[in-house]
Amino acid sequence: MRERSRGVNRLIVIIILIFISNPALICAGTGDKKEKVQEECSEKGVVVSVSRDATEAGIHVLEKGGNAIDAAVAVGFALSVTYPAAGNIGGGGFMLIRTAEGENTLVDFREKAPAAANQNMYLDSNGEVIKELSRLGHKASGVPGTVAGLYLAYKIYGTLNWDELVAPAIRLAEEGFTVNNEMAESLNGLKKEWGNYPGLKKFARDDRKPLRAGYRLFQPDLAVTLRRIAENGPEGFYAGKTAELIDEEMKRGGGLITIEDLNQYQAVIRDPVEGDYRGYHIISAPPPSSGGTALIEILNMLEEYPLGSYGFMSVRAVQLVIECERRVYLDRSIYLGDPDFVDIPLSQLISKEYARKLVSGITTEAGSSSRLDNPPIRPESEETTHYSITDSEGNSVSTTTTLNGSYGSKVVVKGAGFLLNNEMDDFSVKAGVPNMYGLVGGSANAIEPGKRMLSSMAPTIVTKNDEVYLIVGTPGGSTIITSIVQIILDIIDFGLSPVEAVSTQRYHHQWLPDIVYYESGTFTQILKRDLEEKGYILKKRSPIGDVQLIMVRGEVSCGVSDPRIGGAASAVKEISTRQ
Ligand code: DON
Repeated sequence: MRERSRGVNRLIVIIILIFISNPALICAGTGDKKEKVQEECSEKGVVVSVSRDATEAGIHVLEKGGNAIDAAVAVGFALSVTYPAAGNIGGGGFMLIRTAEGENTLVDFREKAPAAANQNMYLDSNGEVIKELSRLGHKASGVPGTVAGLYLAYKIYGTLNWDELVAPAIRLAEEGFTVNNEMAESLNGLKKEWGNYPGLKKFARDDRKPLRAGYRLFQPDLAVTLRRIAENGPEGFYAGKTAELIDEEMKRGGGLITIEDLNQYQAVIRDPVEGDYRGYHIISAPPPSSGGTALIEILNMLEEYPLGSYGFMSVRAVQLVIECERRVYLDRSIYLGDPDFVDIPLSQLISKEYARKLVSGITTEAGSSSRLDNPPIRPESEETTHYSITDSEGNSVSTTTTLNGSYGSKVVVKGAGFLLNNEMDDFSVKAGVPNMYGLVGGSANAIEPGKRMLSSMAPTIVTKNDEVYLIVGTPGGSTIITSIVQIILDIIDFGLSPVEAVSTQRYHHQWLPDIVYYESGTFTQILKRDLEEKGYILKKRSPIGDVQLIMVRGEVSCGVSDPRIGGAASAVKEISTRQ
């Protein structure tokens, strides 16, 4: 019966992909030539990221005999050169590691509020939010965590020399990398910001003519900074020359980060958050990200329904997904924040029992976010990028990293060649006032010195019978969680292949605003009408997410990169014997 409904679902998805998908969405836009989305498979390891050069940096490390964690460090640094919108050393993120022995570790390198931050820092004299202040410019930045995070992962699990892992990024910065169409357009778009943020001119041609695909972008300042990191580890960033340059930049623009903040920054190891869904085990990012908690809460609720038998993109399945998402984003806004500062009722939020209570209010009609009243919880003691990696030994890495908005705060540290994040906007800058992803929060996520801002990043690993099955993650601000939910449902409930799951259109609901957002082509006219008749407000929006997925089948890993931005999966061919 289950097999039959999977077969029907596959047929439906194939028909939908053929007839209503935007052809651009199943062709990766990696330059002039559109590439078909396909799996890249190997028993020796696979890397998937948004950037071909960064993916190849990871493959190079794996082929040299490094493990998945070594490769993740190399990919992370390479992305800071080849994907400046989100790849970073001036931002932060979360790295989920599962070793060949089945040990799960989460490296939290989320940015922190500087010591001088306070709850009123983005409010005017009337107590109103000055919107741009938490989003653009020097005051928008939290203390960066990436270099500390990559180093911590390396110290615990790495096997090659540290400088060998930073070397590919140095080479890409020094010798340049070739920009594709999308990158050229994106960098040309920064021109309007040059007046306020002159450091962005480092991404322009000397003659200021627009970049075209094929242009080679050199970043000598960044190469020097990366060299300091290669030689000195985190000291090369959080102390000495780089720290001085950040300090000078902050003083120039009225920012808050000090040398002391940088010296004190520490990445931390946390236990991932874990749950079960229809016989699969879900491992993901714990607070200070809401990602894993919300993902598990939504899946727990959906497990109460036979989604597979309702059918892929059936009105009942879509409606249930929306209603579960609505309820979980309300919990996100009330309970979640930095666990070092607030008590989070985590075990209740991810319990099956709580999920059963939550679904009890769901009917076949649209609920209402404003009237939503989740059961009580007892007190208890939006540009980003993702990369997924496996190696020949059976280690897996799932990392999501970000500057927050595209190109972060837009501030390039003078003389150091890298962009700073605008992650302070992920705090609830004022209770009830939405952030740039429309997310509303309260006191759990209020600004405090040294506190980490709440995230939605959800680097995830799914296992079956204790063996890794999926390694997955995506950017997308508040839509990160719902994109991962959809990937898991599409593969586990509806029987889609990895290519289909990554390529198919997405939809999203986040409690407030009370709107179902969807990508062009997601819903047929009939499904749209059915949902509207139930009372849902539907709104078409720009592409959602950029998933980098690996599926493991026995000994073989297969990577698929989302066509929305045009990344690359690549497979290890030969591993050289180590000396
Ligand atoms: O941590 C977060 O949830 C956000 N700063 C992520 C931002 C993001 O994904 C933007 N990408 N499109």
